[in-house]
This record gives sequence, C-alpha cells and structure tokens, in this order.
Amino acid sequence: MPQDSAIFKIQRYDPEVDTLPYFTTYNVSLRKGMTVLDGLLDILDQQDGSLAFRASCRGAVCGSDSMYINGAFRLACNTAIVPLLPREITINPLPYMRIVKDLVVDMDPFWTAYERIKPYLINPETAPERERYQSPKDRKHIDEMLDCILCASCYSSCPMVWSDSEFLGPAAFLKAYRFVGDSRDQGQRERIKAVGHENGVWRCHTVFNCTEACPKKINVTWSIEALKRRSIVNRLKFWQR
Ligand code: SF4
Ligand code: FES
Repeated sequence: MPQDSAIFKIQRYDPEVDTLPYFTTYNVSLRKGMTVLDGLLDILDQQDGSLAFRASCRGAVCGSDSMYINGAFRLACNTAIVPLLPREITINPLPYMRIVKDLVVDMDPFWTAYERIKPYLINPETAPERERYQSPKDRKHIDEMLDCILCASCYSSCPMVWSDSEFLGPAAFLKAYRFVGDSRDQGQRERIKAVGHENGVWRCHTVFNCTEACPKKINVTWSIEALKRRSIVNRLKFWQR
C-alpha cells in the first residue's frame, strides 16, 4: 500500500540564538505528485512558520532552492517525494556555505566570484539595428552552458572552494567559457585574464564533483578544461609576439 505520509528531517540553525545546528522532524501528508518543495511549503503553512528556505519559480528555472537532500545536491522543486520513500527525507543546506538561517545560505561569495568573470557580452562594435546574429551552428557550441541556472550546487560541492576563499569556482568558470565560446563576444582576452591565474582555473584539480552535483546535468568539468586550453593558447600567442 502506498505511503500516505513522509518524514522530513530538516537541519535547523539560527546563528542569532543557536550554538550548533540541530534537526527537527515533521510528518508531511502526501498528495499525488508532490515534490520536496511542496512538502516544505506545507510544513511552513501548517506546522512551523519559523522554517527558513528559498524558492521562487517552482519549475527548475531560478536555481534558488538547491539543497542537500538525502545526501545529494538537488533542486527541491524538481525532486519528487515518492522515489525517495520509504526512507525519511533528510535535508541540509548547501554544504560549506555560511548558514544565514536553516536552509538559507549566504550566496555573496558565489556572486562576487561570478561578477569577476564579467558575465555579460563584451562587444565594442556599434550594435546592429536588429540583432547581433549568431548562426545555429555557433549557438550549438554554447547550448549546454546556457542551461546553467546559477543554483551554486557545483560551487558548494567543490573542494577547492572549501579550501581557498579566493578561488572563483565552477559556475564562474562555466559562465566564462560560455562567453569565451560565444561567436559574438570580443572580451576573450580580459576574461581569460580573469580566470587564468593561480586562484582561477589552474587551482581546479579536476575532481568532477561539480559535474556530479549539477542538477541540470551540465558537464561543468569539460568547460573548465576547455578554459584551461584557451588560457594556454592565449599565453602562447603572447610569447610568440
Ligand atoms: Fe547549478 Fe549546474 Fe549552474 Fe553549477 S553549473 S550553478 S550546479 S546549474
Ligand atoms: Fe526555482 Fe526550484 S524554485 S529552481
């Protein structure tokens, strides 16, 4: 007989009042097709208004509800409850990030690293009247990278991020390569400069955690390796001058 309820075991922590994180357990009644985010919203509405978490689009687009669910990086809105049963559903905030409250983590270091790679099209030429045309073939080259929703799962999973606060992290590298590989972009030189240093791509030890963690199934490691190759080619061009 199908289960009509699920146990949610959620890590709680309010740095203003708690000395250490702890777990609170909730019994959630199940409806057909429920996701983990539906369960969290039910807890918030019906059992505990003090529970803190982020969510917005409910459609795996905004990246705001990435969490560590039953030992894996997942988007709560994109994780069905039934396949996780009969185990209890254990939820932690993104690991190795400062906890603001409960499942809400401080995203400032992530956004600071992201800004440093200039995540926008750089093209000093006068904009054409209609659009900067990109052929379907050129667009295909960056297709996979455009799926990134900036959820920070890869960033949270990366051992180099844990040990080096200056390390830019996988999502910033992925985005840098998204523009370096964009046929309309002319900012390659400054972007490669922003990532081609000791706290940049060369600090990556190719652990593959980022690729494993990505809920959008992006091969993040491949982009980092491609960026390393571009960095070497740029350096060779410089020495050949
Ligand atoms: Fe999230 Fe994947 Fe983008 Fe990293 S690459 S921020 S895991 S969507
Ligand atoms: Fe936007 Fe889940 S709520 S990705």
